[in-house]
Amino acid sequence: MKISEVIDNLISYERGYWPDDPTKALGHDTDRDKILYGEKHIDDECTGIVTTCWATADVIEEAHKRGANLIIAHEALFWNHGDHRDWLEESQNKTYLAKKALLDKYKIVVRRDHDHIHSGIPKHGDPNTWVDGIFYGYAKELGWEDYLQTDLGIPMFFKFPKPITARELGQHLISKLHLNGCRIEGDPETPVVKAAIPYHNFGDAKDTITMVDKKGIDCLFGMELIDFTLAEYIRDSSMLGKNKCIVQIGHFNTEEAGMRYMINWLPIAIKTKDIPMSFVQSGDMYHFIAVN
Ligand SMILES: [Fe+2]
Ligand SMILES: [Fe+2]
Repeated sequence: MKISEVIDNLISYERGYWPDDPTKALGHDTDRDKILYGEKHIDDECTGIVTTCWATADVIEEAHKRGANLIIAHEALFWNHGDHRDWLEESQNKTYLAKKALLDKYKIVVRRDHDHIHSGIPKHGDPNTWVDGIFYGYAKELGWEDYLQTDLGIPMFFKFPKPITARELGQHLISKLHLNGCRIEGDPETPVVKAAIPYHNFGDAKDTITMVDKKGIDCLFGMELIDFTLAEYIRDSSMLGKNKCIVQIGHFNTEEAGMRYMINWLPIAIKTKDIPMSFVQSGDMYHFIAVN
């Protein structure tokens, strides 16, 4: 099967429109979802597929080692929305040139799958029930499917059958997702029953703070964490006895679970089991040093 056919099959398996506007199809390509590199090789025979969150230099090396010439990545390749390269060409950025040389050497195609996988995959193969492929995959990888209160997208809510501490939740995330560590805001011994993955935290957090307060959320699995707004609120809440904490592993470490889970449904989506396919972890980008 050609690389282009693999991609076409994948796209037609995914929902392809945002649930709030079924009239507007995403189409084959979007600002994000397109061939990020290797356009000239898309009609090559696909020798293997690697799924990953972010196609780092190490992921590219590993894909080649595994004989794969197609990388399906959730995030951008060249560090900006839309993967624009004009600014990098113009400045002859040295890291860009080195990464490009690596891709050229191995004749690797990188396709981004962001909007399509978030738009939906059929739950358990049933095309009448759509779930966000990334966040549903996160719940599956953590063994939390039964605790899910929502199926699609973020904010995503969980209710645990009995209290579990922030520390235990952090340890579970570290071991299931193969991470170096995690950060906890508030008391690590906070007992958690109601948890949520909030919407991206880009600064203003009024909506998330209101949601946490109104819904009685004990724990947020933060993707981004900045010191002002949400983190301040959680710390004050904890100090005032409001039983609130943040367990934070990072944006990529969170979403990576969905790309790991993708390997389970990819053969059905692309209509073949004959192409070798595997997940390569982009890896925790954080190294933690602690006082004890
Ligand atoms: Fe993302
Ligand atoms: Fe995402």
